[in-house]
Amino acid sequence: MTNIFIGGAWPYANGSLHLGRLASLLPGDVLARYFRAKGDQVLYVSGSDCHGTPVAVQAIQEGVKPSDIADRYHGEFVDCFEQLGFSYDLYTRTDQEFHHDVVQEIFGKLLDNGYLYRKTIEQTYCETDQRFLPDRYVEGDCPVCGSRARGDQCDVCSTILDPSDLLNRTCKLCGHPPVERPTEHFYVSLSHFQEELTDDLNHARGWRDNAVQLTRRYLEEGLQDRAATRDLTWGVDVPVPGFEDKKIYVWVEAVSGYLSASKQWASVTGGDWEAFWRKEGTDIMAYYVHGKDNIPFHTLIWPALLRGVGGLHLPDRIISCEYMTLEGKKFSTSRNWAVWIPDLLSRYQPDSIRYFLIANGPEKRDTDFSWREFIHSHNGELLGAFGNLVNRTLVFVNKSFDSVIPAGRITGEWQSRMETLYSEAGTLIEEGRLKEALELIFSVVRLANKYFDERKPWLQVKENRDDCGDTLFTCVQIIANLANLLQPFTPFACDKIRGFLSLQQPAWTWSDVSAGTPVRDLTLLFERIDPSRIEEETRRLEASH
Ligand code: MF3
Ligand code: ZN
Repeated sequence: MTNIFIGGAWPYANGSLHLGRLASLLPGDVLARYFRAKGDQVLYVSGSDCHGTPVAVQAIQEGVKPSDIADRYHGEFVDCFEQLGFSYDLYTRTDQEFHHDVVQEIFGKLLDNGYLYRKTIEQTYCETDQRFLPDRYVEGDCPVCGSRARGDQCDVCSTILDPSDLLNRTCKLCGHPPVERPTEHFYVSLSHFQEELTDDLNHARGWRDNAVQLTRRYLEEGLQDRAATRDLTWGVDVPVPGFEDKKIYVWVEAVSGYLSASKQWASVTGGDWEAFWRKEGTDIMAYYVHGKDNIPFHTLIWPALLRGVGGLHLPDRIISCEYMTLEGKKFSTSRNWAVWIPDLLSRYQPDSIRYFLIANGPEKRDTDFSWREFIHSHNGELLGAFGNLVNRTLVFVNKSFDSVIPAGRITGEWQSRMETLYSEAGTLIEEGRLKEALELIFSVVRLANKYFDERKPWLQVKENRDDCGDTLFTCVQIIANLANLLQPFTPFACDKIRGFLSLQQPAWTWSDVSAGTPVRDLTLLFERIDPSRIEEETRRLEASH
């Protein structure tokens, strides 16, 4: 047995979740549900990233405290994740004492172990606003590609930047050109880990290709030491005298959430966090799930911090998504070109959203969300193929066999097909190839519909009831196993099936339903969405931005 740690990225608590972000988080829940069904021990954690400039900026814009913003969106995230069926073992937040303590402990260890050093640097300062400017408050031209970029990173060419790298700089708050002023900070010696991290990359298995490419690029350019503290008022205090007006840099701090959340989970539940981080002789596998803009933080910075602290398990698998576009264009929060999750959930079933985001997941390249595709995928695949198989089979049992599963035999072909499906889909899921796994399972759903059609139980029931029993018995076994196989992807529909057939908890292995089992409370798994909604939704989207 393996202990599976799954770290989901920590969304910034500065605005609602949109579909693009959700697309990069959902694979974590699919993995967690799969491994639990398989019988492994799973620890799946994440939380809201409550510090950082995005939250502070939002607070200034609204004239409220940063903690008000964090409270509002953390609450909304919790609500969305719950409605979507996310099965986090703990979803916490970074603005809590527990997290602060763990971050300071990590900071202290890095200091003791000699991986943090002091350095006085020139920091960007705005004389109009009379303050040091966080990286994201500085805008300017990217020295690599020339695009207008923020002081932390260029979104166009992915270069990690320092505000001083930018040309033609302006202050985001007031628009004036900033100046430089000396200030003392701690730096993490990332360069010290150059060789070990290169070695990690060369031995990496199960990293998405974008993670391998981008990480290699950073390593080839040579790792630069990075500031670990910032001149900020909102964040985790630096546990060193003389640094009272500074905070720990949000990237060092947010990634440490994986460890703090694990420890918090242990303290809340009595669980053993070390079983996922450092047990000798335990087989541990750590997955990290996020969008491509987060890659270097999970393949370089976090592993460097873990090595610096020592004795903690490093990332094994990097499930880093490409982007999802919306009707062919980039999601844009500022231009409100987005589908917001709370709004989507007010009109659509969580399984429809989950299904679409995996079936069209941006695993290897950017993919697109369009209302047309979304509604067609619900009506065609979920309802037309999966819902239909379940419904026609169980309605038939109700009508012709008094709502009781008839006696029958499953063909050897179907039994072995389902057994193979567990192992093949399981391998794909473990490799993070969720889209292929889902496609494979749905190809079997379509085969099962074909089997039903070809057997013609509506004729068999008149001509040979035993044959008809075999057909329905076989279809019921297929359905019961689909309720296992699809549970990571569409848990709500699978729970319903489990209810109809009185099935136990999902397992990742052949499960059967015995003859004589009653069908209980049959309802439709999915309602058809009227195609006129495509135009309605598209118009709503166009009108909102
Ligand atoms: N809040 C960051 C973002 O949305 C993600 C942080 S994930 C972390 O980009 F684990 F690295 F913190
Ligand atoms: Zn300014």
